[in-house]
Amino acid sequence: MDPIKNFLECDISAYSFEDKITYLNKVESFLSTQDKFYYQDNYSEINDSDYDKLKKHYMQVLQKYPFLIKESKYSESIGFMPSEKFSKVKHKIPMLSLSNIFDESDLDDFYEKIRKYLNLNLDSTLEIVSEPKIDGLSASLLYKGGVLTVGATRGDGTLGEDVTENIKTISNIPKIIESKDVPEILEVRGEIYMNKSDFINLNEKMLQNGKQTYVNPRNTASGSLRQIDPNITRSRKLNFFAYTLGEISNHNFKSHFEVISKFKEWGFAVNPYTKINRSKNELIESYSELDAIRSSLDYDIDGVVYKINSLHLQDRLGFISRSPRWAVAHKFEAEKANTKIIDIDIQVGRTGALTPVAKLEPINIGGVVVRNATLHNEDFISGIDSDGNQIRNGSDIRIGDTVEVIRSGDVIPKVIGVDISKRLPNSQKYEFPKLCPICNSPAIKEINASTGKSSSVRRCTGDFYCLSQELGRLEFFVSRDAMNIEGFGGKSMKLFYDKGFIKRPNDIFTLQSKQGLGLIDISSLDGWGSISMSKLFSSIDEKRQITLDRFIYSLGIRHIGINTAKIISQNLNSIGNLISLIDNLNSKYNSYLESFLENDGIGEVAIKSFLDFLSVGHNASVVKNLNDQLDILDFVIEQKLDSKLSGLSIVFTGKFDSMSRAEAKDKAERMGAKVLSSISNKTDLLVAGQVSGSKLTKAKDLDIKIIDENDWLNLLN
Ligand code: IVH
Repeated sequence: MDPIKNFLECDISAYSFEDKITYLNKVESFLSTQDKFYYQDNYSEINDSDYDKLKKHYMQVLQKYPFLIKESKYSESIGFMPSEKFSKVKHKIPMLSLSNIFDESDLDDFYEKIRKYLNLNLDSTLEIVSEPKIDGLSASLLYKGGVLTVGATRGDGTLGEDVTENIKTISNIPKIIESKDVPEILEVRGEIYMNKSDFINLNEKMLQNGKQTYVNPRNTASGSLRQIDPNITRSRKLNFFAYTLGEISNHNFKSHFEVISKFKEWGFAVNPYTKINRSKNELIESYSELDAIRSSLDYDIDGVVYKINSLHLQDRLGFISRSPRWAVAHKFEAEKANTKIIDIDIQVGRTGALTPVAKLEPINIGGVVVRNATLHNEDFISGIDSDGNQIRNGSDIRIGDTVEVIRSGDVIPKVIGVDISKRLPNSQKYEFPKLCPICNSPAIKEINASTGKSSSVRRCTGDFYCLSQELGRLEFFVSRDAMNIEGFGGKSMKLFYDKGFIKRPNDIFTLQSKQGLGLIDISSLDGWGSISMSKLFSSIDEKRQITLDRFIYSLGIRHIGINTAKIISQNLNSIGNLISLIDNLNSKYNSYLESFLENDGIGEVAIKSFLDFLSVGHNASVVKNLNDQLDILDFVIEQKLDSKLSGLSIVFTGKFDSMSRAEAKDKAERMGAKVLSSISNKTDLLVAGQVSGSKLTKAKDLDIKIIDENDWLNLLN
């Protein structure tokens, strides 16, 4: 029997939904087998024209029954598969970002932190690879059996967009890796970018056609990759540099440089300025060389990335929140220009901080028009830094002054200096408001309890009465690192807030039902229609499930960053326990405080801020209402299932030879333990290095199990 003829002649119109899926999957599995023969084994079982006929028929089926697209499991290795919109791809290994450094002293800190963490001598040699930081967008390419199967954007680091078909149009990305030594699963990560020359050509064409020009190569590359029609992506001539591994089924690479060399062998473009350095001076030299040739390159680079070469050391160093400890981006100096301050606006953020923003005479800095720049805080305007020392020789900044403004990449432009010689004779010192411009509550400078110094920042005391703080919290709640709800960008949240559609975070999750009941009408808002509205509803629905730590972080409580939120969640474990904490907070404030303080890595200021936030009735009800709307998942530490440490409370004391305390703590936590800072009868294990004092004595008194460094290393193995 001829399977192709069978497939082609089969009339599925009367099939049930399930049978249509079965039929579709059968065709797909047949096509996949043929692809594998053709691409991997260099052999064909059927002739090309039959293959093309079946492929065409398959596409027609999908066009006729678009609901089948979701059920489709097939993505051929070359060619084009229409996609209605991009589906999401979960990155098995999160795609992280890099922390930035700006000068030599930051570089010293980078070295010092690494040596301290790894417990290395100051004079030990570390191999560090330097490579340009390409100003594009990162992408992940997944190869199965050497065939490019999935291409995805970074997204929020965990979930990216499936842009496979568009990625396949990029000419310097291999669609198939011919080499015999390619692992079964291989994920190559790197940067997609547009050449400056192609960007200029594209803009010339836009001008000729009377169309608006694009702003910069990076944004254009990003927009080009997200086109529904891959032919548009193809016409934009994007390029790719491979720079790191993601998932891989098996390998025995020892160093990053080896990986890069292998990428090259497998047919990927790797950056030619990738180099191994053995000292800080060599790194600085590599940085200067790249800075010097920067403008002559045909692609934008905005700094140099330094990566520890040894993969074993990379593994030991691991990550801190969203960045690796083993790599850092040394940014180039940002571009600067001089302009005049027309006015100073005061903005109030979610934590009540009054931030002065200079309204500028518009100025073009490195191709971007800048109209606003931050003036940081009251002290900065007066010529004082956060330690109380003079800056700019003590010169203040006034409306009408000519100032120097700096802009770098995606950060907010900043005022960095003032040209006193151009000051107008009748100018007045800027009087910083003592009342919140939004709610009129007193704005005060807090005194730091430990240093006794007054803060540089003036804060509104209106808290929940202040609309700006409320709006700031809402904006934070939906932002990428928090709940990550797409669709509230730009001024949308303010619009919803001003209309009264959203006042508290929980209102976000009842928008759809209110719209359904006719209580609100989102589609009538400026810039909104039924399509954008239903898109918003589906992105809200996608985020109804969230882990406890991310939920706590999303509340936007002052001093509670993602790491602190994790430690709190590790202690609370479930949303149920958070709710009972709220209910018992009045009577048990101090005992909660004490028990949180037992954790390593969390301080009193943060915990008090957390508890104080929850003791306000308004906040407590927001948390409870959100709990009704959301599925808040228990905090689970990623742990080895068979770990001997999971669930144990551990205290470390003394010095270790093989690793720093920080590394020991991370290792214990990764294996499912809770690391406490002091011994109590809740402690299960004390790991005692050399010179252990009172903790050792106390552990002996309480009859707690004590082990030394050797036992600890055995436990880890
Ligand atoms: S390594 C775990 N290398 O910079 C670190 N990133 O803020 C993975 N980038 O999202 C990134 N050039 O888009 C690395 N040579 C390079 C890079 C590079 C540009 C981008 C990348 C990443 C961002 C980090």
